[in-house]
Amino acid sequence: MKKNLILLLLLALFFKAGAQNISLTKGWKLSIGDNPEWSSPGFDDSGWQAANVSKNWEQQGHPDYDGFGWYRLHVIIPSSIKEKSYLKDSVLISLGSIDDNDEVYLNGTLIGKYGGHKGSDIKRSRYGPRSYKIAANNPALLWDKVNVLAVRVYDTGGDGGMYGTNFNIHMVDIMEGVHFDTGSDFSYGEHNTLGKSIGINTSNNYPYKGTLSFKVTDPETGAVILSKKTDTAHFTTGVPFSWWFTFSAAKKKSYLITYTFKDKKTGVELSETETTPYILTPAVSKIPKINGAAIFGVRPGHPVLYLIPATGKAPLKYKAQGLPAGLKLDAATGIITGTVDQKGSYPIVFTVSNKLGSNTKKFTLAIGDNVGLTPALGWNSWNAWGLSVNDEKVRTSAREMAGRLSVHGWSYINIDDGWEAAKRQDDGKITPNEKFPDMKGLTGYIHSLGLRMGIYSSPGPRTCGGYLGTWQHEDQDAQTYSDWGIDYLKYDWCSYGEIAPRNPNLEEMKKPYLVMRSSLDKVNRDILFSYCQYGMGSVWTWGAEAGGNSWRTTGDITDTWNSMSNIGFNQDKMAPYAGPGHFNDPDMLVVGKVGWGPSLHNTRLTFDEQYTHISLWSLLASPLLIGCDMGHLDRFTLSLLTNDEVLAIDQDALGKSARQYIKKDGYQVWVKELKDGGKAIGLFNTTDSYQTISLPKSDAALKGYTKYRDVWRQQNVTSASGRVAPHGVLLLRVEK
Ligand code: GLA
Repeated sequence: MKKNLILLLLLALFFKAGAQNISLTKGWKLSIGDNPEWSSPGFDDSGWQAANVSKNWEQQGHPDYDGFGWYRLHVIIPSSIKEKSYLKDSVLISLGSIDDNDEVYLNGTLIGKYGGHKGSDIKRSRYGPRSYKIAANNPALLWDKVNVLAVRVYDTGGDGGMYGTNFNIHMVDIMEGVHFDTGSDFSYGEHNTLGKSIGINTSNNYPYKGTLSFKVTDPETGAVILSKKTDTAHFTTGVPFSWWFTFSAAKKKSYLITYTFKDKKTGVELSETETTPYILTPAVSKIPKINGAAIFGVRPGHPVLYLIPATGKAPLKYKAQGLPAGLKLDAATGIITGTVDQKGSYPIVFTVSNKLGSNTKKFTLAIGDNVGLTPALGWNSWNAWGLSVNDEKVRTSAREMAGRLSVHGWSYINIDDGWEAAKRQDDGKITPNEKFPDMKGLTGYIHSLGLRMGIYSSPGPRTCGGYLGTWQHEDQDAQTYSDWGIDYLKYDWCSYGEIAPRNPNLEEMKKPYLVMRSSLDKVNRDILFSYCQYGMGSVWTWGAEAGGNSWRTTGDITDTWNSMSNIGFNQDKMAPYAGPGHFNDPDMLVVGKVGWGPSLHNTRLTFDEQYTHISLWSLLASPLLIGCDMGHLDRFTLSLLTNDEVLAIDQDALGKSARQYIKKDGYQVWVKELKDGGKAIGLFNTTDSYQTISLPKSDAALKGYTKYRDVWRQQNVTSASGRVAPHGVLLLRVEK
């Protein structure tokens, strides 16, 4: 017993020593600009400015600087850290966070890079933490001698440089490089049973042997519901260990799962937690039901493409009474096409039927100058694929949207950055790159499914991803888009920052958007115009008047609670500016599998946070642009995106955004007025624990409202009150 204790103590000391860090927070030098010689260890950087790596370079004498800059550091790496470590094979160099791209040289040898395309030229990635692992016997690493670290940074816009908190060098520790693979989807059985396979793997050359345990806790009560373990968790490089488990959830809510691996020999543990999904959206009925917005706007003489969104057991038969002259309906697909020359508000009655019954719905086709009367519902490639988007990925998304989502009103398939060729044709025409062999064919395919197609560009010479922008080709590009059949354009400021004067005034900010607006007005089709300039100059106050159908109100979203909730809960000041034809855009959705590049991961939002995300965005009357891999829509994500009562809040024809009605320390209430005189109300729990949130019947917001409905569950309830999960929501619709 005593012997064991001593051994444990020794091991503990040993591992503490093993985790020894060499700090890299001090001593950095910085130079703005770019020069290949700056990677060389022999280069004399004594004249460079001293850099503070807790701050961006804007704060260190380079205001508004976007472009290249280099950081250099001279550091001794003592071999004692190797001797004291348990695993002696690799070294991890952590360089805080980098904004946005980098190449890292150790004594002149490139040891890692992040971002970029087109050869060695680093162009675009995302601000974020960077760590590079190299072998301990890599000849570039000089043990016990001075090493020169040189970091080439390229900032595409906004803040720039290398700055953050985690700057150090250390030997890769026993549990570093060990990962839980929790990426597989949960499977759903009867009686709320969930199953899942998890894996544990490593990139370390060490034979891990030990216990893998799994514990389910109820976050509301703290009670441990289930606890299991296996003593046979053995894995090493290339040979992962996987484990399948099932568990029965007592209630429809999220539980917390903790996975812990304990290595027997060293006693070191690694844990990870995740939450469990629960589906609120009721199953779709086999009886026909018509979904989607009650109104759609098209300009006179422009092509109409409208798919009547309806669920029900196939085959469905579609009818439309009161279709204006010039339009025809395909009774088998529900797709309406044609043109209408006369302005006017055309009332139409849709009927959809199958063997089990039929459903009718009143609909208005508004032929006039205002389009995009309800927020766009669609998919955009960026949050999933980043610059790795290609024809096949877009077709997959279109196919999946047509198969599973268009029946709920989803219709846009939007390609973001990364489709453009490196050069224009001799006549100045823009063409797609090799990833999109036939843009017109692709659009044709998308239209044939009753869906619409969107594209992306920048008013500057380059897009944010470094591709060709529209600068000085506005008319020509608008015409090309029209020839291809494009229905939506996202227009991203990016390198227009180099064209506009520094600190542009309002007129200078509006200018590129007005120029493109007039180019789009010259073509013979409706192209929704989505402004993306991150909210500069309070764009919401002038975006509509400048011809935008939507405008981004913020910088880029990412899949964390911090990012999503900071954006979503700060949309009150722009709320009054939303209306039919012009909406605030708090950025695209981060549910499902996202990744901003070729490799994807499950969103890091918990399941309750995802309910909050979709509820809040719907209350805000935001464009809902799915940002995940549509080819792998899991059951939970699908349920989030196909709740017709939730979507109806977003698509409400009044087009108003919710206002922040109550903001308290631990919760918020947002209220949206609806066309039928009702209201949609979101009660949001912003804390980490369960709480009861109530809006009393006597509250001014509820005066005169007698009917209450829980929108996610699609059930009538008796009060505006409920237990709300951490970061979760209760979404209600109330009627008089
Ligand atoms: C900007 C936008 C993103 C995306 C990328 C493409 O960051 O805000 O939504 O379009 O550019 O490069």
